[in-house]
Amino acid sequence: MTELKNDRYIRALLKQPVDKTPVWMMRQAGRYLPEYKAVRKQAGDFMSLCRNADLACEVTLQPLRRFDLDAAILFSDILTVPDAMGLGLYFEEGEGPKFARPIRSKRDVDNLIMPDPEGELQYVMNAVRTIRRELKGEVPLIGFSGSPWTLATYMIEGGSSKAFTKIKKMAFSEPQILHALLDKLSDSVIDYLNAQISAGVQSVMLFDTWGGVLSPRDYQDFSLQYMAKIVAGLKRTYEGKKIPVTLFTKNGGQWLESIADTGCDAIGLDWTIDMASAKARVGSRVALQGNMDPSMLYASPQRISEEVATILQSFGQGPGHVFNLGHGIHLDVPPENAKVFVDAVHELSAQYHL
Ligand code: CP3
Repeated sequence: MTELKNDRYIRALLKQPVDKTPVWMMRQAGRYLPEYKAVRKQAGDFMSLCRNADLACEVTLQPLRRFDLDAAILFSDILTVPDAMGLGLYFEEGEGPKFARPIRSKRDVDNLIMPDPEGELQYVMNAVRTIRRELKGEVPLIGFSGSPWTLATYMIEGGSSKAFTKIKKMAFSEPQILHALLDKLSDSVIDYLNAQISAGVQSVMLFDTWGGVLSPRDYQDFSLQYMAKIVAGLKRTYEGKKIPVTLFTKNGGQWLESIADTGCDAIGLDWTIDMASAKARVGSRVALQGNMDPSMLYASPQRISEEVATILQSFGQGPGHVFNLGHGIHLDVPPENAKVFVDAVHELSAQYHL
């Protein structure tokens, strides 16, 4: 395989010296880009876009043509795994994801298929292979999965949720059913991510979007425990190269020490925690990714640059920082503002890597 021309992102995750702080944006491919909307229209619907390797590759590369990003992220979705397990994923216009057959009982859990990554999920691996070929070693490709807890919220609630009453009812009245589900999901995610690594992703990230709705004890029990199992089950090197693992729990700032204990390489931060205090707590053990409020991209170019400068200064000298938004880019952000953000990270960060 070709050597990487720009490996800042991988080096920063491994806390190795870099010339500038690397930057990418969560949800960097998506509806805030007119060229994404055009391809999405051509595909017909979101899942057809995910299932078409050439189109998935095209939308993965779109943000890289506009912005000087240091990584590409596979275009897919976290809900491909529950879909492949048999729940029937569909998207209703303007309402977000839905499952035709949500999990209600132990029997539903027992009936789940353990997906074969080169079977039911082969379309994802085909997208990875196509993207790796087309990237031509310019920047690394990030693979990802949802965390078991976050996937389970969608599988039990039947879609997006605000209060998570169904899954919490199960957690507190029939915990053994939920643990059986989380266990199955962990095994599926390990297979899925290891297959992405074999297909060509150069780093992996777990999105635990909803871990932060749990109490500290329940976070450990229902979310972190399973992410730790996944970290332990992943290929950490492939073809002689380290494959860094990033864990992102939105609203997880109070648990950084326990997250670092999983043995992950990096922790993704949302914007509710100060970068300097995160670094003081766990910066000797892991790299940190983040952490600008995505809504800052609505601000003026000057305000965006000021915020970038503040976060860079908060992290301070030396490697171990991957700049990112604290969550996905909003769909009505002007693309020009994203460019201001990315360029500011590179321009303002060189002084921290002398
Ligand atoms: O980051 C990237 O650019 C890579 C692609 C990516 C998508 N989803 C594409 C997508 C990634 C990494 C995800 C992760 C994802 N999906 C998460 C975890 C991260 C997070 O944002 O918290 C979650 C919770 C999901 C579930 C999901 N999929 C939701 C809530 C939605 C939005 C539904 C809507 O209509 O707004 C999706 C669909 C989705 N996934 C879109 C994209 C670009 C929009 C679909 C479209 O084009 O209509």
